[in-house]
Amino acid sequence: MATILPPTDASVHQAARFLVSGGLVALPTETVYGLAADATNPDAVAKIYEAKNRPATNPLIVHIDGPERVSEFTEPPDDTWECLAEIFWPGPLTLILPRRGAKISDLVTAGLPTVGLRVPDVDITRRVIAEVGKPLAAPSANPANYVSPTSAQHVQDSLGGRIELILDGGPCRRGIESTILDISEKGRARLLRPGPIAPEALEEALQRHVQPVFEKNSERAAQMAPGQLRAHYQPRARVYLWHDAIPQLEGAKKAAAVTFQKPTLATSAHHYWLTESGAAEEAARNLYGLMRQLDADGYEVLYIEKAPRSPLGDSINERLERASAKD
Ligand code: TXA
Ligand code: MG
Repeated sequence: MATILPPTDASVHQAARFLVSGGLVALPTETVYGLAADATNPDAVAKIYEAKNRPATNPLIVHIDGPERVSEFTEPPDDTWECLAEIFWPGPLTLILPRRGAKISDLVTAGLPTVGLRVPDVDITRRVIAEVGKPLAAPSANPANYVSPTSAQHVQDSLGGRIELILDGGPCRRGIESTILDISEKGRARLLRPGPIAPEALEEALQRHVQPVFEKNSERAAQMAPGQLRAHYQPRARVYLWHDAIPQLEGAKKAAAVTFQKPTLATSAHHYWLTESGAAEEAARNLYGLMRQLDADGYEVLYIEKAPRSPLGDSINERLERASAKD
């Protein structure tokens, strides 16, 4: 099992030293926990792919401690990124920009001419990055295709046997992965993955149309964001989505119904919900933890109600679509 470090100064030093020596450390971010390695050290980065069993064709997001670092590793086509960084960093927005130089390992970018960068909004994690003095490659700290971790214990549960250190920053405040925006071409902004930052907020900041390219089955989307496979974020239980009445759960298999909001009337066994208050923010925070809990409880089938439409509701529903994809 991995050692879970409390969020102290001593832990920041220990995590940083281990990363400098080429080790892997799971770090908290505001979205999900990341499995970090020195992005300039190919041997360290290779360990990430191995621990996650991730195909080497799926590039990793690079985490930096502030926007000053952007020009070290990228060659932005214009100043669009600055306006976005000013508003949304630190925070759950990953910017795809043309790569510059050879400092960041080719393994990180899976050979693409671009790199994804973000500044995580968790203080101790930015302190670790600053102390290492290098950018950190960090995908979500889960085995490939399983549900992302939103607590240190989630990381322990699914990767504890494969890594040594987890820095505990408490539960993740956002609960779903960052919004990914490709601004590598001058004059274009393409949304590769919906997330906590809404497309409307990006359009307002940019005063420009943001083109979504993550639709399911889109050949183009698969080319642009190689990790965005249709089936993704999947619990072990089979997931079915529904929109209206609660499905009948009597049947051979152990099944649970997950409504979006806690019902006001009495609930029955095998009935769960994503939020008590009805707020999409709360549902996003609870989503992955609930899927993991229901897996641990031995449910084989989950019927999950989609979130009401809203920018964040749509991002939750995109995760649910992928969790329920059957190919
Ligand atoms: O919130 C997050 O983004 C979390 C935390 C840990 O920061 N990270 C995360 O990483 O979700 P991961 O590896 O699970 O998802 C990264 C996504 C993949 O779909 C990958 O294809 C895409 O980012 N990506 C990374 N670099 C890219 C690039 N240069 N061009 C296009 N897509 C890229
Ligand atoms: Mg992931």
